[in-house]
Amino acid sequence: MYKLLRALLFRLDAETSHHLTFSLLRFFYLLPGAGAMTRALITRRPTTLPVTVMGLNFSNPVGLAAGLDKNAEYVQPLSNFGFGFLELGTVTPRPQPGNPKPRMFRLPRQAALINRMGFNNVGAGKFLVNLAAQGKPCPLGVNIGKNRDTPLEQAADDYLAVLNSVYRLADYVAVNISSPNTTGLRDLQQEENLEVLLRALKNEQAALANKYGRYVPIALKIAPDLDDTQIAAIARLVLEHKFDAVIATNTTIARPGLADDPRARQSGGLSGRPLKMQATEIIRKLYDRLQGAVPIIGVGGIENAEDAWEKLVAGADLVQIYTALIYEGPCQVQAIARGLAERVRASGCATLAEAVQQSRRARHPSPATETPSSGGDATAGS
Ligand SMILES: Cc1cc2nc3c(=O)[nH]c(=O)nc-3n(C[C@H](O)[C@H](O)[C@H](O)COP(=O)(O)O)c2cc1C
Repeated sequence: MYKLLRALLFRLDAETSHHLTFSLLRFFYLLPGAGAMTRALITRRPTTLPVTVMGLNFSNPVGLAAGLDKNAEYVQPLSNFGFGFLELGTVTPRPQPGNPKPRMFRLPRQAALINRMGFNNVGAGKFLVNLAAQGKPCPLGVNIGKNRDTPLEQAADDYLAVLNSVYRLADYVAVNISSPNTTGLRDLQQEENLEVLLRALKNEQAALANKYGRYVPIALKIAPDLDDTQIAAIARLVLEHKFDAVIATNTTIARPGLADDPRARQSGGLSGRPLKMQATEIIRKLYDRLQGAVPIIGVGGIENAEDAWEKLVAGADLVQIYTALIYEGPCQVQAIARGLAERVRASGCATLAEAVQQSRRARHPSPATETPSSGGDATAGS
């Protein structure tokens, strides 16, 4: 059924069809019983594959990546797709319109998207009002960023302001320093800049945990376009400052395998299938350095359970999808969770973490692949 709907939606410009789909969904949710109907049609019998990461309990490890629900408007419908968690945002301190349209492009043959949205969002104040009205059907991460017109030297002030705003309602906060569509943002990944930012965020987190009596984990979202030296520096700082997780990765400015495709010449970040291997490679390199001391959320080109498994074995503890939702539809969320649960059962292990560990050992039979300490306590079952 989604194939038919997709054929219609893909006749429209990418951003228009996005807004149309979610506006219709919101309208549909005004009807009584809409949630139950969505669950009956899409989620059916939800797969239970519990995982504990960053001290949070997830009913399954498949989450929604940031950028799709930028303003915390669709929490209920999205949770009914069967996600284990949702990452909302990116939200900035003040509202901003983002880049001129068109700014989102489909590459259907490659199951990919290019976007240069530029953090279009309603700003932290309205975001919070929306979020408070949504309830909490599953763990909710809030992805935070800086406003386009905030100079890089004052970027930390923006992150601290939004961290303060969303702290009370978020289950975790993701610090986005990796979008290619805000000039200079990715320079925050440079060692000296990152050191200052991470220190400021950890100090603020400690003060907020004290104020509210609740510790909210903070994850760092990184780009796939990093060399080994940069990965090493990020891993060192994340360990030193005891960050709670790393999200790898955001979209890429590279065009892997797309050199001859005229559509790929659009500027912006590339997501979906062409990003898959690059993102997995970053996760692998990061895991080599973190060794499970800091959990990794793996994202980039995951289309099915096989891809999700690859990310987990490379070092991830949780996974996220965005582009595959556009190409495959909402049923794909549970298809991935189900496929992972089947892998756990076939492995003979009791938990996802054990099955993943077994697979890591089989691939890299060295002492370096010992138990991850992400708190990845997972149990299989459907
Ligand atoms: C249209 C679009 C908008 C996005 N906006 C954001 C964003 O606001 N913040 C962010 O951290 N990542 C954003 N992303 C990146 C995704 O969260 C994800 O990291 C990336 O798309 C790779 O995953 P995928 O291949 O499953 O799409 C966006 C991606 C797309 C396609």
